[in-house]
Amino acid sequence: MNSTALLDRYLQVRQHSEALVAPLSDEDMVVQSMPDASPAKWHLAHTTWFFETFLLAPRLPEYTVFDPTFAYLFNSYYEALGPRQPRPQRGLLTRPPVARLMAYRRYIDENMHVLLQGGVTDEISALVELGLAHEQQHQELLLMDVLHLFSLSPLQPAYSPRWREPGSDRPARFVALAGGLVEIGHDGQGFAFDNEGPRHKVFLQPFQIADRLVSNAQWLAFIEAGGYSRADLWLSEGWARVQEEGWEAPMYWRRGDEGWMEMGLGGLHPLQDASPVTHISYYEACAYAAWADARLPSEAEWEVAARAGLLGQVEDCAWQWTASAYTPYPGFHPSAGAVGEYNGKFMVSQMVLRGGASITPAGHARPSYRNFFYPAQRWMFSGLRLARDARTGEDASEHEGFAEDVRSGLGAPTKSLPPKYFYDATGSELFEAICRTREYYPTRMETALLREIAEELSTVIPRGAALVEFGSGASLKTRLLLDAAPQIGLYLPIDISESALRKATTMLEGAYPELRVLPQVGDFTHLPHLPPAAASRARVAFFPGSTLGNFTPAEALRFLRSVRRFLGREARLILGLDMQKDVATLEAAYDDADGITAQFNKNLLTRINRELGGDFDLDAFTHLARWNPQDSCMEMFLVSHQDQEVRAAGRRFHFAAGERLHTECSHKYSLEGIAEMAAESGWHLARHWLSPEPQVGIFVLEGS
Ligand code: SAH
Ligand code: AVI
Repeated sequence: MNSTALLDRYLQVRQHSEALVAPLSDEDMVVQSMPDASPAKWHLAHTTWFFETFLLAPRLPEYTVFDPTFAYLFNSYYEALGPRQPRPQRGLLTRPPVARLMAYRRYIDENMHVLLQGGVTDEISALVELGLAHEQQHQELLLMDVLHLFSLSPLQPAYSPRWREPGSDRPARFVALAGGLVEIGHDGQGFAFDNEGPRHKVFLQPFQIADRLVSNAQWLAFIEAGGYSRADLWLSEGWARVQEEGWEAPMYWRRGDEGWMEMGLGGLHPLQDASPVTHISYYEACAYAAWADARLPSEAEWEVAARAGLLGQVEDCAWQWTASAYTPYPGFHPSAGAVGEYNGKFMVSQMVLRGGASITPAGHARPSYRNFFYPAQRWMFSGLRLARDARTGEDASEHEGFAEDVRSGLGAPTKSLPPKYFYDATGSELFEAICRTREYYPTRMETALLREIAEELSTVIPRGAALVEFGSGASLKTRLLLDAAPQIGLYLPIDISESALRKATTMLEGAYPELRVLPQVGDFTHLPHLPPAAASRARVAFFPGSTLGNFTPAEALRFLRSVRRFLGREARLILGLDMQKDVATLEAAYDDADGITAQFNKNLLTRINRELGGDFDLDAFTHLARWNPQDSCMEMFLVSHQDQEVRAAGRRFHFAAGERLHTECSHKYSLEGIAEMAAESGWHLARHWLSPEPQVGIFVLEGS
């Protein structure tokens, strides 16, 4: 860059710092709100000292230092340049006054003018670029620090009433990258900080990365799901911070009478759902990722995806935590002299953030930029972008199966989805919450009935038998059987919900140390072969909860036949089914007053949004539960409020106002119907017990 162009850029960057303090009073500029933050006047002076110390003093002949005390006052952390005002005490610098610091800026700018007009060597040019990039970093720090200061003011003032929080055009979708041998780091074209190089090779496993940041609305869902009170989601250090500092939301969220508010540079305002979440620590980012069944990207994954142009919200919203520790790249050496202290000496205990934020000066960020903070810090504009390992084998085909079912189910003239997709980790927890509602009688009645008949039922189970359970969920009813029938030698729970199965297995292993448990994650309509451990044992199947009722009658017959084949000779099936009853009891059971069933139903849309890049607006659909007398089943729907287009699984789907998406049938039975169904599928009804009202039944089927 020639000297005129460099001088122009110099003046432009320097003037921007002064424009940034224009809304501040002199009093605003003095206070230091915490040890990590600096007063605005200190930023103005320190960036000026940088040019004086690294350019003017050593390189402008006959330069006279403006004020010899400034070396002590405005040195930040350069050991090679002598002692300095302790960082936590920068707020004590009421002297020199702001006006003198402005005069300091003028003096340095005039001398820089002289230096640059005298000709620009490559070395000077590189140092000026470093000084400008340094000043831009402080421009961002200045805004972070002002926000922190104002957030502690009882008046919650706006730095700029016109400040706009960044939004988002749509929710994130995962994009897949192949990985392999890639190159990252600065390629030497144009300015970069020393920590961005050398460029080097990295091997990446195939991965997926979200093309947008996590939004406030998504963060709110994490909070509402108990994200800040579930130790299992947190790194140990992070969990300790949650306790010590009482974290229950991002740093500037405030719980108000009318919902969540957020303090920003525009002042206190209602939380904006679509804005990317900001002001979260690394610990919070990791906990969210764990909750969302994902992880943070490594900085190499981030850089490769950003360079490929696959990501939105890269440099203009929030810095994005990565899973990478801030360590030197292979071959990194800090520069010689004091300027070598710029980055290298901080390469321990911090994590890298990539991208750029809404407060980052224009043109400052680039794809190789490595920002870094300690994992507990939150006052910077930090957010997160999710990543996850590529889906392989079974996972990929399961994912494709879900996508295919969504495409065909939403593409059909009468829209419907199979109920098995309710049961992701959140869905399984919501189902358990339904079972605790006052209205959902089936679990309560069936559990009471099982407890009452457990002794009798145990006579159906041969010594050493293998107990196979379909849709075992939390395996709570199973415990009644296990307690009454200690002769059970092996337990094979099969469930589509990995999280429920994992939790249940841990619980059973603790409670029944003698019992062998062989859990199987998968769809029970594709029954696996029995494992060798079950080969020589008598087999009894357990299928409680009226989950059979979620099949269509034809599917139920097909399933019962396949279970008959699966179990082989002397097969026995203990079946729990819900009986027909009055419509009011039924409709209340599927539309509880606390809205848990509605949440369970809508979680299907949340799951589609997360796993299949959907953009369902949950508020645009209502939960509906209706008795269908013709088919003798309770039906659940999600009803579209309005005419709308929704994207999911790579397609667009139109919903008319009032149109229904069918999500579940729950058949209710009569005794005769059950006997008939058994007979048609290779079984006979050997015994049964019925509960008091609201009635459910336990049925023992034997192979005929
Ligand atoms: N048996 C428990 C849970 C019933 S909820 C009880 O009676 O309370 C239904 C269970 O079946 C859930 O755990 C769900 O994950 C599982 N499930 C639903 N469809 C399934 C399928 N197609 N294959 C395997 N498991 C399924
Ligand atoms: C698992 N299944 C038998 C439950 C039912 O009653 O059909 C699922 C459920 N749907 C709404 N509430 C509970």
